Amino acid sequence: MSLLEVENLEVYYETEEGPAQAVDDVSFTLEEGENLGIVGESGCGKTTLAKAIIGILPDAGYVNGGTIRFKGDDMTEMTGEQRRRLKWEEISMIAQSAMNSLDPVYTIREQIVEAIETHRPGTGRTESQQIVTSMFELVGLDPDRADDYPHQFSGGMRQRAMIAMALALEPSLILADEPTTALDVIMQDQILKRISQIQDEIRSSMLVITHDVSVVAETCDRVLVMYAGKVAEEGPVEEIFNQPYHPYTIGLKRAFPNIRKTDQDLLSIKGYPPELIDPPQGCRFAERCPMADERCREEEPEAHYMNDLRTYCHYAEDIDRELRPRADDPKTWRQTEAARAVQEVGDD
Ligand SMILES: Nc1ncnc2c1ncn2[C@@H]1O[C@H](COP(=O)(O)OP(=O)(O)O)[C@@H](O)[C@H]1O
Ligand SMILES: [Mg+2]
Repeated sequence: MSLLEVENLEVYYETEEGPAQAVDDVSFTLEEGENLGIVGESGCGKTTLAKAIIGILPDAGYVNGGTIRFKGDDMTEMTGEQRRRLKWEEISMIAQSAMNSLDPVYTIREQIVEAIETHRPGTGRTESQQIVTSMFELVGLDPDRADDYPHQFSGGMRQRAMIAMALALEPSLILADEPTTALDVIMQDQILKRISQIQDEIRSSMLVITHDVSVVAETCDRVLVMYAGKVAEEGPVEEIFNQPYHPYTIGLKRAFPNIRKTDQDLLSIKGYPPELIDPPQGCRFAERCPMADERCREEEPEAHYMNDLRTYCHYAEDIDRELRPRADDPKTWRQTEAARAVQEVGDD
C-alpha cells in the first residue's frame, strides 16, 4: 500500500462564470519515504492539489470527484474531525505564505507547544519545550527567539518557524508549497538540507511544490509536471530532466537553468495556460505546443508510457524524431498557431 494514492481527483472552484476546473483527473501515488516534486506554471493547480489533500480548501473550492487515499483510507469520505486529527499529526503543510499560517496573537513557542499538546496528548511540558528548542536549532533559528510573536520575525525567519512547526509532530507526509521561496539562495540550501535530514530521521514523505527546478533536483525522487489542472507528465527526476517526452516538459526544460528567480522565465514558451472555467476539449497544451495538430485540439490524450515516464501526449512516440532536434531553438517555442497555419498553407 502506498502512503498516498490520489486517483482521478477533480477539484473545482465555484465562480460566477461557472466551475473552474483547477485540478482535473489527476492521479499519482507517493510511497513511504519518497519525495515527489510538483512543477508547472502559476495557476496550474499545484496549491489547490495540496490544499485538497490536507483538507483546507477555501469555501469556493470542493472535491468534485476522485479519491485521496492516505494509508489506505479515503480522505474525501472522512468527517471533519477525522481529517483534523490527520492534519499536523500525520500530514502537515509548509505553506506558500508563512504569515497566513501563523497566528499573530500567540508567540511561536505557544503555537508549537499547543500543536504538540493537542495532537500528542500526554507529552509533558518539558518535552514540548525540548521539541521547540531542537526544532528551532534544526531550522537555524535561535531558540531564545521562540518567545517572539510572528510579527517580530522577518519573512525568512517566519518561514523557518513555519517549517519548525510543520516538522515538530514528525508527520508521515509533508506538503511543502513553495517552502523556500521567501528565502535567499544560501538560506534555501541550508533549509532544504535540514528538511532532508529531518525527513531521513522520521522517514516522512514529501510533496514539494515549486517552480524552482534546483529545489526539485536536490530533494525529489520523482516529479509530476502539471499543466492547466492536469498531469502532463510524471516520472523519475533524472528522466524528467534529461529525457522528457511531453512537449510542455521539454519547453519547461529550456527554462530550467534560469528558473531560480521567477515564474517569468517559464514564459519562454510563448503564451499562457488556458482558462480553467471552460478549458479546451483536447490537449490543454495544444494552443502553445509546437507539435499540435487537429487531433490534439479535439481529443484528450491518454497516458503513454515512455521509458519510466507517464506522458499525456498523442505524439509521445514521435518526440525524439519531431521535437527533440529543434527543442533548443527559441523559434520553436515562439511560433504561434497563426504563424504555423500560414506556413502550412505555404508548404502545400
Ligand atoms: N479561491 C479561489 N476561487 C476561485 N478560483 C481559484 C481560487 N483559488 C485558486 N483558484 C484558481 O484555481 C487555479 C489553480 O490555482 P492554484 O492551485 O493556486 O495554482 P498554482 O498553485 O499552481 O499556482 C487558478 O486558475 C486559480 O485562479
Ligand atoms: Mg501555488
